[in-house]
Amino acid sequence: MNIHTYEKFWLLASMVLIVGFILTITYGAVGLGIAMVDDSSPTVDPENLDDHPGFADPGVEQVGENEYDVHVIAVQFAYFPAEVEVPANSVVNFYITSEDVIHSYSVVGTNANTMVIPGEIAEITVETDEPGEYGVLCSEYCGAGHHDMEAKLVVVPEDEFELEGDQ
Ligand code: CUA
Repeated sequence: MNIHTYEKFWLLASMVLIVGFILTITYGAVGLGIAMVDDSSPTVDPENLDDHPGFADPGVEQVGENEYDVHVIAVQFAYFPAEVEVPANSVVNFYITSEDVIHSYSVVGTNANTMVIPGEIAEITVETDEPGEYGVLCSEYCGAGHHDMEAKLVVVPEDEFELEGDQ
C-alpha cells in the first residue's frame, strides 16, 4: 500500500500530539507534587466547629521552634481570623474549613492555594521567607458577596513576632 508523503507526515504529527497530551497530563497530575482535594482529607462537623480543638478558637499557635499551626474558618463572605500574622523563615501549617459552602483560600502571588469544602479540613504548608504582606482571596464563586471575600497574610520579621495573648 502506498501512503502519500503528506499523509504520513500528518499521521505522525497527530501521534506526536496525542503522546504529548498524555505526557503533559501525567506530568501535571504526578510530576509537580500537587495534591488534589479528595476523600482522604480529614473531616470536621461544619455545624459544630466549636467542638473542634483547632476551630473553636481559630488563629495562630506555635507547635515547634519555627513551626506554627494556623486554623482558619471560611464563611460567606469572610475569613476568621481575617488577618493572619506569622514570622519570617518559619513553617506554617494551615488548616482551613468552611462553615457553609465551598470557598477557597488563595494567597495572591504565591502557589499557596486550596479549595475549602464544608466538612473537610484543607491542609497547606507554607514556608515563609522574607517579611511581607499578602492578600488572600476566595477564588470559588460562593454567592453575592464572593468578590468581597478577602483576608490578609502578614509575614513579620522574626524579632517582631508575638503571639496574641489568649493563644
Ligand atoms: Cu467565598 Cu467566593
